Amino acid sequence: MPGYRKKQNTCAGLKPATVDFCLSLNFLLLRKAESVRVSPVRLHDKPRCWVEIDLGTLERNLKRIRSGLPDYIQYVAVVKADAYGHGMKQTVSRLMHCGADLFAVANLREAEEIREIGSGWPILILSAILPEEDKHIAKLQVIPTISCEEELRRFQKAAQEAGKRISVHMKVDTGMGRIGVWYEDAKALCLKILKCADLQLDGIFTHFSSADCDAAFTQLQRNRFLDLLKTLPLPTDRKLLIHCDNSAGLESLPSNGPLNGVRIGLLQFGVLPYPDSLLADVCVEPVLSFHTRVGLIKELPEGCYISYGKTYQLKKRSKIAVLTAGYADGIPTALSNEAEVLIHGKRCRVLGRVTMDQTIVDISDIPGVECGDIATLIGTQEGERISVNEFSSKAGEIPWESFVSISKRVQRIYKTDTGF
Ligand SMILES: Cc1ncc(COP(=O)(O)O)c(C=O)c1O
Repeated sequence: MPGYRKKQNTCAGLKPATVDFCLSLNFLLLRKAESVRVSPVRLHDKPRCWVEIDLGTLERNLKRIRSGLPDYIQYVAVVKADAYGHGMKQTVSRLMHCGADLFAVANLREAEEIREIGSGWPILILSAILPEEDKHIAKLQVIPTISCEEELRRFQKAAQEAGKRISVHMKVDTGMGRIGVWYEDAKALCLKILKCADLQLDGIFTHFSSADCDAAFTQLQRNRFLDLLKTLPLPTDRKLLIHCDNSAGLESLPSNGPLNGVRIGLLQFGVLPYPDSLLADVCVEPVLSFHTRVGLIKELPEGCYISYGKTYQLKKRSKIAVLTAGYADGIPTALSNEAEVLIHGKRCRVLGRVTMDQTIVDISDIPGVECGDIATLIGTQEGERISVNEFSSKAGEIPWESFVSISKRVQRIYKTDTGF
């Protein structure tokens, strides 16, 4: 990227009579429930587990990324998987107002969510479309990715059936080994797309496999892509979107040439693609923090085992806190005996196995902890910080994975102050 240089690296199975009994029991229970008045529980006041998502920070991040890019570069905001777990609707609405040019998602369902937020935005579908989904492409006015002749024929048929042209981006496999036409065969496919009156080629792109860890291979992929582009008889009546850079790719984005788009996911959420990335100069800040509460405090004697499987034994009499979140919320079991959480701004170690709904931490050295106190899994307390990179690396994950693993059960709380 101009300005940034790379540093380095039922009852089923029961007899009919039993089923009848179950059903009538159910009926009785239902009737009973109807007669019980339930007072509303205000779950929003004090969640057991929640993420805070700061949309002002998201806006600031996007503006900072944009400000390091030449004006002719289009910003494709990658918001697949519920905007990396940050919430599609809230995130996309904000990005629509602060400078995103296109949105990229994995599938048609995600595209439909964006269509419900605002009409007219170009939406690129990054993953392969299934044959039975073809009929929705024109209706949703999305841009499918085309990787082979079979898709060309399918999309052509879908366009003819819909009675309108379909805009497509051709994806080139320059070394990722996933979707896309192999770069040596890309010219032939491109010529066929250009000849097809039912399809309009509006973009060509590739994807780096290792931009966060292998500069030489990224350069090889970039060169394959740029060399291919020189051989293509691209239309002159419109500007195609030519893009290959994800967050990590920005480090080596050339300041001139045919590339006129970037596809940014992780960085806009305030996370560097790898810890010592030069993209630290962009000064993005984390958008998301992840918190839970202290549900119970107790003392246990030396030698006591903690949690399932007896994987931890207390070395001395200890005070423990049982947190009100577990792996069903997105705390991976791989963090058992590994992670730390922040309580009162101090680090407390996870003891024993993370369980479905509860996680145990050692609070022996932290005075004054009370039931209901906040425990931060990702985020800052009193100046002490646990980054998503720390959380994910201890879990043997990558930050993308940790974000999308925060489950639906976890409440999303949005801060909506202005970006600047
Ligand atoms: C094809 C494609 N482009 C761009 C991105 C965005 O990558 P990043 O989150 O590293 O910016 C992804 C993410 O997985 C992707 O699959």
